[in-house]
Amino acid sequence: KIPSHKNVEELKELEEMRSAARLLREGGLVAFPTETVYGLGADATKEEASSAIFAAKGRPKDNPLIVHIGQKKQLTQITREIPPVAHQLLHRFCPGPLTLVLKHNGSLAQTVTAGLDTVAVRIPSHPVALALLQLADIPIAAPSANRSGRPSPTTADHVWSDLAGKIDILLDSGPTSVGVESTVVDVTGKVPVLLRPGGITIEELKKAIGKIEMDPGLLNQKRKPRSPGMKYKHYAPQGELWLVQGEEKSMIRKMRQLAEQALARGKKVGILTTEEHQDQFRGLFVVSCGRRKEPASVAIRLYDALRRFDEEKVEIIYAESFPQYGLFHSIMNRLWKAAGGRVIKS
Ligand code: TXA
Ligand code: MG
Repeated sequence: KIPSHKNVEELKELEEMRSAARLLREGGLVAFPTETVYGLGADATKEEASSAIFAAKGRPKDNPLIVHIGQKKQLTQITREIPPVAHQLLHRFCPGPLTLVLKHNGSLAQTVTAGLDTVAVRIPSHPVALALLQLADIPIAAPSANRSGRPSPTTADHVWSDLAGKIDILLDSGPTSVGVESTVVDVTGKVPVLLRPGGITIEELKKAIGKIEMDPGLLNQKRKPRSPGMKYKHYAPQGELWLVQGEEKSMIRKMRQLAEQALARGKKVGILTTEEHQDQFRGLFVVSCGRRKEPASVAIRLYDALRRFDEEKVEIIYAESFPQYGLFHSIMNRLWKAAGGRVIKS
């Protein structure tokens, strides 16, 4: 347990933090909180250490990892060039839930970049993450600390239930504050490209840098996404999740109808909805993932909500959908992937 009220400098004095940093330098695996989700960290310059991440997660080898650093100046130690737009983004959003894809300089382990000539880098803003990265003072490869394919972990309990026995240390600092992963932007071309929507919204990005393109693979199911990880079935609960779309009232009515039909077929049914609507599903297994009026509250609770259905061994889940703006954009991206593209229009 790491106290959540301490600042970076205070955290750097803690023996738990120091031994976790030492372990990273010796090639160990450390799970730690970031503001988005918990990460599973290892030395990004050592093949063996980074390979251990893939083994612990059961992650496909062609899916590169995000490299985490504790200070902007470390960027020049791993990248070949930093274009002006990257400086703009760094200035505006880092530390924070933004990941930049840049050309690397060959100093990282091949497993980390999956053999690509680019690397995804981010500076998290969570004090525990920053303190750990600054103490270790090496680039740390860290994907989300879940078993591959499962919802990302927003609490230490989630990490524990996926990876107990497979990691050396788990730094528990309570639930994370953003709840969805970082936004990934490729800045190696003429125009920046959004590869994964996340904690920083498209609206915020546009305001900061003007022009940004969307990876066509994000919008079109038939195109291969440019971010290797985006092609996998992801964030998925074990039950079959259906995303129900449409105008609010008819969407809720449709969800109720579908649930009743599935119940009649003898299925164990779950409903994923919001506080505004949860009372309309009496008698069913209902999980509320925050307030529809507050996208940030939904982001924080989304992955925990998805995990609840597994705990209850729910076989079929009907999920409320959200309008495409701000954080809802990232939330809908995750729900759509959790649904494996199963959408019902009301
Ligand atoms: O919020 C986050 O980003 C969390 C925390 C722990 O920092 N990390 C995280 O990592 O979500 P991971 O490994 O679960 O997701 C990394 C994403 C994947 O979709 C991967 O394919 C993409 O970033 N990625 C990594 N390197 C890339 C590269 N060189 N080019 C394009 N996409 C890349
Ligand atoms: Mg992940």
